[in-house]
Amino acid sequence: MSKGEVENEVKSKVESKVKRRGESKSGESSEAQSGDRTGEPAALIQVDSETAETDSAFGDDGVGDDSLSTQSLYSHITNFVYENGRRYHSYQQGAYWGPNDEVAQDNLDLYHHLFTQTLGGKLFLAPIGPDPQKVLDLGTGTGIWAMDFADEFPSAAVIATDLSPIQPSMVPPNLQFEVDDMCLPWTFHPPASFDFIHARCIYGCVADYPALYAQVLEHLKPGAWFQHAEISVVAVADDKSLEGTHLDRWGPLALEAGVKFGKSFSIAEDMEGFMRNAGFVNVERHMFPWPIGTWAKDPEMKRIGAYNRLGWEEGLEGGGRKKFTF
Ligand SMILES: C[S@@+](CC[C@H](N)C(=O)[O-])C[C@H]1O[C@@H](n2cnc3c(N)ncnc32)[C@H](O)[C@@H]1O
Repeated sequence: MSKGEVENEVKSKVESKVKRRGESKSGESSEAQSGDRTGEPAALIQVDSETAETDSAFGDDGVGDDSLSTQSLYSHITNFVYENGRRYHSYQQGAYWGPNDEVAQDNLDLYHHLFTQTLGGKLFLAPIGPDPQKVLDLGTGTGIWAMDFADEFPSAAVIATDLSPIQPSMVPPNLQFEVDDMCLPWTFHPPASFDFIHARCIYGCVADYPALYAQVLEHLKPGAWFQHAEISVVAVADDKSLEGTHLDRWGPLALEAGVKFGKSFSIAEDMEGFMRNAGFVNVERHMFPWPIGTWAKDPEMKRIGAYNRLGWEEGLEGGGRKKFTF
């Protein structure tokens, strides 16, 4: 599969969601219930001996009225910050390491596709039942997960929050995007009212996980579910093929950057412990290996590897710029 083919496939699959961005406001797994089952990493991924990894192809304006306060609030969240050719959020400026421009948004949408492929087309694994009433997505990014969820569960009133107002305005009627900092005290009323709270890829976004998880727990109805999905920033290989490579250095350097920034990038590794300590019960951990590149024998793994390699290639620059200048 060539890079062009992967790009086209991802594009067509997420197109219906992404094209809503044209109407954007701004112009631009672990899971736990409130028994244990521990998922093990899948067995060694078999290498496709016929694939040479030398394939060079992979080488509303938001202003509801014209009151001054609304306008100033609106400009406060949309006066994006530009640094080294990339665009960053302005609300809580500097709180998040990633850009929020078109390139970054495409990367988030690509990973959304990777996550859903990995889950066999599902958006989540938590056993939430067929008619959730109130659902929260933390750090929603482009909002693509929340839009898919709201489409699939019309019973649910879905709230999706982020520091950046980059989500489309043409969205399902049961979905509301809010610019909000999940790390501040939450203002949802009544607190224990959510059937499902979801977070994905908020690595390097949270300084105090015990505090965040305490708020999540407090806002779940009794018996409700929280799902947190993360990607490890540390690439590993079953053989020695990574040794001495730049990719091998990336993981430890990213972890070090998180320590300097005060927001950990090792949450994929640590979240199960944080959840248990916060008081969650029925905690389950599921781990899924993602190859980088098309070396796997299994066709599904090969496909996932193709997406993942594209994701790394297109995400590295945005992911690294701020991280490595802390
Ligand atoms: C890597 S992106 C993941 C986006 C989305 N969850 C997904 O899986 O596609 C992380 C998102 O978290 C948002 N974020 C970072 N810190 C945040 C905070 N304190 N409160 C709310 N959102 C935050 C960022 O703006 C960014 O959109």
